Amino acid sequence: MYRNSLCLRHGMEEGGTMVVMDVSSIMVIFGGTGDLTHRKLMPALYNLLYEKNLPENFCIVSVGRRDKTDDLYRNEVYESIKKYSRIKLDEELWKILRNKIYYQKFDFHDDDGYARLKGFLNELDENYNTDGNRIFYLAVAPEYFELIVEKLNEHGMVENNKSWQRVMIEKPFGRDLNSAVYLNKKITDVFSEKNTYRIDHYLGKEMLQNIMVIRFANVFFEPVWNNKYIDNVQISSSETVGVENRGGYYEKAGALRDMIQNHMLQLLTLTAMEPPVDLTTDSIHDEKVKVLKSLQELTPELVLKNAVRGQYEGYRYEDRVSPDSDTETFAALKVFVDNFRWAGVPFYIRTGKKLPVKSTEIIIQFKPLPGILYFKEYGELMPNLLVIKIQPEEGVFLQFNAKKPGTLNKLIPVKMDFCQNCQVGMNSPEAYERLIYDALRGDSTLFTRWDEVEYSWKYVDKIAEVWRNEKPDFPNYKPGTWGPTDADNLLLKDNFKWWSIGGFYDENL
Ligand code: BG6
Repeated sequence: MYRNSLCLRHGMEEGGTMVVMDVSSIMVIFGGTGDLTHRKLMPALYNLLYEKNLPENFCIVSVGRRDKTDDLYRNEVYESIKKYSRIKLDEELWKILRNKIYYQKFDFHDDDGYARLKGFLNELDENYNTDGNRIFYLAVAPEYFELIVEKLNEHGMVENNKSWQRVMIEKPFGRDLNSAVYLNKKITDVFSEKNTYRIDHYLGKEMLQNIMVIRFANVFFEPVWNNKYIDNVQISSSETVGVENRGGYYEKAGALRDMIQNHMLQLLTLTAMEPPVDLTTDSIHDEKVKVLKSLQELTPELVLKNAVRGQYEGYRYEDRVSPDSDTETFAALKVFVDNFRWAGVPFYIRTGKKLPVKSTEIIIQFKPLPGILYFKEYGELMPNLLVIKIQPEEGVFLQFNAKKPGTLNKLIPVKMDFCQNCQVGMNSPEAYERLIYDALRGDSTLFTRWDEVEYSWKYVDKIAEVWRNEKPDFPNYKPGTWGPTDADNLLLKDNFKWWSIGGFYDENL
């Protein structure tokens, strides 16, 4: 029989003492009929239940604008879980989840709707012993964030006295620094920073959580993790898809706001940060923020020199995209972290749509040894590479030089490859599982603290401003290629090249 292990009261270590937290709660999903809810949130909730990581006293209320009965909604959720869940749907378990799901129809402007919701949640509190605890998940377009938070407040649904109320907010958090500051004020007027969970779903990915472990739990990485030994760092996140049905949103975002401001800068901070004093949320966030604060001050000249943008051929014909759109679907940057550890080491970042593979990787290229012993006749001495594979393969790859077997004194680069999700029986949790689980436990380590958002926007705004004032020559790359040639030149100028990602290492060997 199904037994739940995340019980009513969940203990967590904080500063050495055991803090007992109440995890019983109702999760209210605004945008309950949307794509995110169906593809990600519901499958995540089902998988959490399967893994015995949902509280016993728990239910879900989805809010949407379409007319539906609970039953109709539950049937739709059933189909989505069947389609998108990483764990095969088990009918018995589904019955348990089904009985915890409710649907409420109202427009996000409608005061009566909020009043009804409040009454309904109070009723559910009685039935599920959820003690007034709530997670409000805003899986809606960003223009509704402020409105919903305001209405929740006006209708007395955020009190935080005996119970707790938390808000989970999807990206984009603003579209520049000013709008992010404004939004943040609106949200934190109602929810405290502690109860505000800003989502960057990359932080929920297994290998992002692993970066700190790899760096700080292994003696052979940390001593060489600096400008004395590292030549450059390459952080790539490539996608094969185009903008699909998100042209309306993407037109206003572009790769810079959609990927660089959040996911890519998060990857950079985890790669570059100093070891935190401990593993508490604030200590980790403090170190990440220091990296963002150390990013090289950008001038317009530097932006023109070190930032490359691209747009794939055909983008202008996508649905809800302007025929003369200047929105970038590709961005590559050369970034410097101006602190003692990293002075002089370029971090190259690139991301784009319609590239050859779906892959996210961090490649650390180490400095060459002096060419005193082994020269050309031994074969080309390849640099040592450490590759942190974020997705789709999860793992770590190390390239180093060894003697080629045989009588000739030749060197060849060899690799040690650890693939975490290739192991039999290993089915890594999806990012959203971890994020919902943490929000239930009240742990915001894998969410972005306000100052992280603030400093990322400060950096990205400088680039956006220059790009706004310079007309690009778009489109400038073909679908299925690695973006515009200027992205290659960014590295060639420094005598580096982008290392292949997504399993193409062999071509370098
Ligand atoms: C989202 C972006 O945040 O991340 C999308 O809005 C992008 O444009 C997606 O496709 C990529 O996420 P993942 O997990 O598929 O790498």
